[in-house]
Amino acid sequence: MTSSDSAQECYVHITLPGETEFVTAGKFALATNRQGIPTGRFVYGRSYLRRENAVPINPLERKLSSRTYATTMLAGVFGALRDASPDYWGRRVIEKYTGKAQLGEIDYLLYSPDDRAGALGFGLNREPPAPRRKFNRTLDLERLQKLADAIIADEDLPEGPDAEQVQKLMLDGTSMGGARPKAVVEDDAGLWIAKFNRPDDKWNHARVERAMLVLARECSLQTSESKVTAIGGRDVLLVKRFDRQQTEKGYRRARMVSALTLLRAEDAHRDRNKWSYVLLVEELRRISSQPRTDAPELFRRMCFNALISNTDDHPRNHAVIAMDKEWKLSPAYDLIPSIPVRIERRDLALICGDMGRYAHVGNLLSQSARFLVDADETKKTVNEMEQTVRNKWYDIARREGVTEKDCGKIASAFAYPGFRLAITG
Ligand SMILES: Nc1ncnc2c1ncn2[C@@H]1O[C@H](COP(=O)(O)OP(=O)(O)OP(=O)(O)O)[C@@H](O)[C@H]1O
Ligand SMILES: [Mg+2]
Repeated sequence: MTSSDSAQECYVHITLPGETEFVTAGKFALATNRQGIPTGRFVYGRSYLRRENAVPINPLERKLSSRTYATTMLAGVFGALRDASPDYWGRRVIEKYTGKAQLGEIDYLLYSPDDRAGALGFGLNREPPAPRRKFNRTLDLERLQKLADAIIADEDLPEGPDAEQVQKLMLDGTSMGGARPKAVVEDDAGLWIAKFNRPDDKWNHARVERAMLVLARECSLQTSESKVTAIGGRDVLLVKRFDRQQTEKGYRRARMVSALTLLRAEDAHRDRNKWSYVLLVEELRRISSQPRTDAPELFRRMCFNALISNTDDHPRNHAVIAMDKEWKLSPAYDLIPSIPVRIERRDLALICGDMGRYAHVGNLLSQSARFLVDADETKKTVNEMEQTVRNKWYDIARREGVTEKDCGKIASAFAYPGFRLAITG
């Protein structure tokens, strides 16, 4: 989808384990082949390959290689690079900023400022830029929220003497993925993702997502620190970034790739046969430095998603990270209940067992051995989690400030009847 004035290549920079500054890792180029199919090429720089502490960008690469990698998947953008690129929300912001309806894939990489998920950066110059020292502060949240509202409503952005500053403020945070309005802000504790409520939300998302993060911990899932703060009379969810570590010298960054990349899958519907917890755990066991911790954790997440009807658990809502050399499963994020009308069957976004995507206890247990969990133990774990979700969701939600009315709206998400439906025939 690149037009003639779109950038066709860029340098890929990386912050190596233990460091806080970028080095140049390689070069990425995008071209259209003779059949008109976008094709991406990536090659590591020779100087990068000579570095003693150089690491592969993608955990699926066992070791570094000087070969030219090529792909036609994901419109030619390698999964590990695409994971550092904006999604629906960030693209909307960039399009609004540039006044263009659509940009080339490399333009999206270049426009989004350097607070993206993971350890990569992108630039037109071989030399990486100096690391950023200044981020939006939590004090800026009110202005950021107003800008997000204007973008959602497709209104004109502010003009006047400080328009440029306002627009820069807005561009920050665009490179974080996802569809919901968000920004990245810093306080003395470090960097946070701020997730805003949309004026057209059916319930208070910030408070409900916060409640799910608390409920998830009750179910022994690993999650980031989070809190809700009221800005201009509206709630905003702040989730601590797990891919950044504050040091005296600046931020260390974890490499990060999504499950979509690990599954070598496309976003598109036709690739949904690869969207699978069962396949994902196979990859996770191969690449994780702690498979005996991560595989059972992934099993618990799958069960938790089934029990809160989180049917938006798509492959970009799972990730692996590497703050040092070794990879592991990231903390859980984007845990959102949904309220499908059907009560006898709900489907997760990923296949979870022999009955496909069905959020059913029998289905979850059908492939549990692959998650390195003992069959008897597992039954107990699922039963306990079911009880916890059933008995605690409401109290936690109320404690976290979800209104009685909103609790009424989301109640049918939890431990829905189909989870235990007797299956005959
Ligand atoms: N705590 C975190 N630390 C670092 N990166 C995170 C964290 N939480 C989320 N991310 C990254 O930011 C992206 C967007 O976050 P999230 O999934 O919460 O947003 P969303 O807009 O609700 O997504 P969706 O479009 O799936 O609804 C994720 O896909 C992930 O790459
Ligand atoms: Mg998401």
